[in-house]
Amino acid sequence: MSYKSVYDGWKADPEAFWMEAAEAISWTKKPTRALDSSNAPLYEWFTDGEANTCYNALDRHVEAGRGDQTAIIYDSPITGAKRKISYAELTDQVALLAGALKAKGIGKGDRVLIYMPMVPEALNAMLACARIGAVHSVVFGGFAANELAVRIDDATPKAIIAASCGIEPGRVIKYKPLLDGAIELAAHKPEFTIILQREQAQADMTEGRDFDWFGVQEGVEPADCVPIGGADPLYILYTSGTTGQPKGVVRPSGGHMVALNWTMKNIYNVEPGEVFWAASDVGWVVGHSYICYAPLIYGSTAIVFEGKPVGTPDAGTFWRVIEEHKVTSFFTAPTAFRAIKREDPAGEFVKKYDLSSLKALYLAGERADPDTIIWAQDQLGIPVVDHWWQTETGFSIAANPLGLEELPMKLGSPTVAMPGFDVQVLGDDGHQLPAGELGAIAIKLPLPPGTLPTLWNAEERFVKSYLDTFSGYYETGDAGIIDEDGYLYIMARTDDVINVAGHRLSTGAMEEVLAAHPDVAECAVIGVADQLKGQLALGFICLNNGVNRSHEEIVAEVVKLVREKIGPVAAFKLTLVVDRLPKTRSGKILRGTMVNIADETPWKMPATIDDPVILDEITAALRTLGYAGGSSR
Ligand code: COA
Ligand code: AMP
Repeated sequence: MSYKSVYDGWKADPEAFWMEAAEAISWTKKPTRALDSSNAPLYEWFTDGEANTCYNALDRHVEAGRGDQTAIIYDSPITGAKRKISYAELTDQVALLAGALKAKGIGKGDRVLIYMPMVPEALNAMLACARIGAVHSVVFGGFAANELAVRIDDATPKAIIAASCGIEPGRVIKYKPLLDGAIELAAHKPEFTIILQREQAQADMTEGRDFDWFGVQEGVEPADCVPIGGADPLYILYTSGTTGQPKGVVRPSGGHMVALNWTMKNIYNVEPGEVFWAASDVGWVVGHSYICYAPLIYGSTAIVFEGKPVGTPDAGTFWRVIEEHKVTSFFTAPTAFRAIKREDPAGEFVKKYDLSSLKALYLAGERADPDTIIWAQDQLGIPVVDHWWQTETGFSIAANPLGLEELPMKLGSPTVAMPGFDVQVLGDDGHQLPAGELGAIAIKLPLPPGTLPTLWNAEERFVKSYLDTFSGYYETGDAGIIDEDGYLYIMARTDDVINVAGHRLSTGAMEEVLAAHPDVAECAVIGVADQLKGQLALGFICLNNGVNRSHEEIVAEVVKLVREKIGPVAAFKLTLVVDRLPKTRSGKILRGTMVNIADETPWKMPATIDDPVILDEITAALRTLGYAGGSSR
């Protein structure tokens, strides 16, 4: 079927489209209708249906006689471990863990925070929550205790499931002290924790609060799947907004299953039983959707990869995994490819492996630069699909739907809108702009099933952040263009969110940390272009009058502070001490202009600038770090 006929079919009757897609899900109570607009502009899908996500991801495949099929392949080049877990085994394991949670009083609607590295048990934890209707919230391992505490206070979990450690190249990250610190910092205290002890670091346990992963499961009754309302939450995933308070994206159960299942064939062109690999992390939305839920709901084999694109042990790791496990469809971030290309520009490692199983490569998480796409195409000789999505949507808004039809690709474009998304480019006044004109990218409401219905405990913030700017639309926060063929181009964020190595980060959150340093009077953080990571955060600080300590010392302190407060994932290393920040006459810091100067992109002197001379001072400062035409980089 052609993309156009499917997209037009959806547009003509969205409800019929999604009701048909919902047939692929095993419901305990079939929904009688798709969309619930009774609370518009807040929408829900499949509200009167009931289905359990864990049942759809596990039990139903076992009942269909596919229990022996591998559900998860764990491949950990960083520890040397490899393991295959069948659907039958995983179902038993998850039922037991769910039984343990249930025995300790966790039930439907209770929140459980999960803080685990890339081990298969992270998926067990997510699925065990889903099985009993508990709402999980996974926190990425690269966040510091403070970020964990913020999430604990917002989600108010009854329990936390964690591993004793994560492993980064060259160092073991002890999670337990971070977790203990976070619980200490948080106002809300979980009733108990379950800790998976890994041999690389044993965690100290607090008697009566911390329970061993295996110990807590001893002698408990396995738990059955409970029916879950179609619009009930499956999980909360925190993502960066403009302030230090992250946004708790709520994922509704029913629509999530329907939409993800639809994407597996139509976008990723996979069949049940084939191996689908998303080299991301369970802490990100890609990990939720395409390491855990979509492959399992669809009956494919998922890969849990604990390693890096380079250095574990070399730039051939991805190719080794693809050959060894016969991966059909592979999904990663462009930054991972840039890292590989930097180490192996001629593709010597690529040639060493048999990659004949691989049908397509999918890139997302940040803009895929044409050089990276061309290199990947040349090396792999398969379609390379850039696709655009957000934590909020949970699956791609725009893609090249290879399972329907391979559309001609245009470099720099994630191709076209997927069914469910009526994507438009709007001007400041909310009117649709003509093809080729740059504006705010917005999606006509309602968003499709599986996308966020609201923010956790923050409906007002949801409305203000996404629905207020353009009436009747969801504001994506991205700016871009739609060309005359309907191809989208995602150019930049319209807010203070930056993207570092495929990780979404808030410059506002970093500014809050810098501003808390006793010597800092004022600050600004911007995202500057970086060849490997796409963007890097760069801070400017103005010191309080009378501070005459060494600037190097203060810079080192603020860098350390961001690592301590936000985490290593912020990769915050660049800070400049300046006398003044450029502002408009009304006092707004001209961050956008500073970005343009740093990246040497064309810019106009803002008409409202208070004192243009400050921009010369900023340029000179940036040059000392090699930006703005400086040569030391
Ligand atoms: N737990 C603890 N620390 C972590 C972590 C985790 N899960 N993930 C990253 N970190 C740390 C890193 O060790 C590093 O610490 P350092 O400053 O001490 O070196 C820091 O956070 C920054 O990490 P990162 O930005 O990943 O940089 P890197 O130089 O270690 O690796 C890449 C660069 C490109 C190889 C890596 O970023 C990568 O694989 N990116 C792909 C990202 C991705 O898949 N995103 C998902 C979107 S689809
Ligand atoms: P996250 O919520 O972490 O997935 O980040 C979402 C943001 O990443 C989007 O709003 C975009 O700014 C950016 N992004 C994701 N995928 C792409 C892509 N394919 N092209 C350009 N930007 C992207």
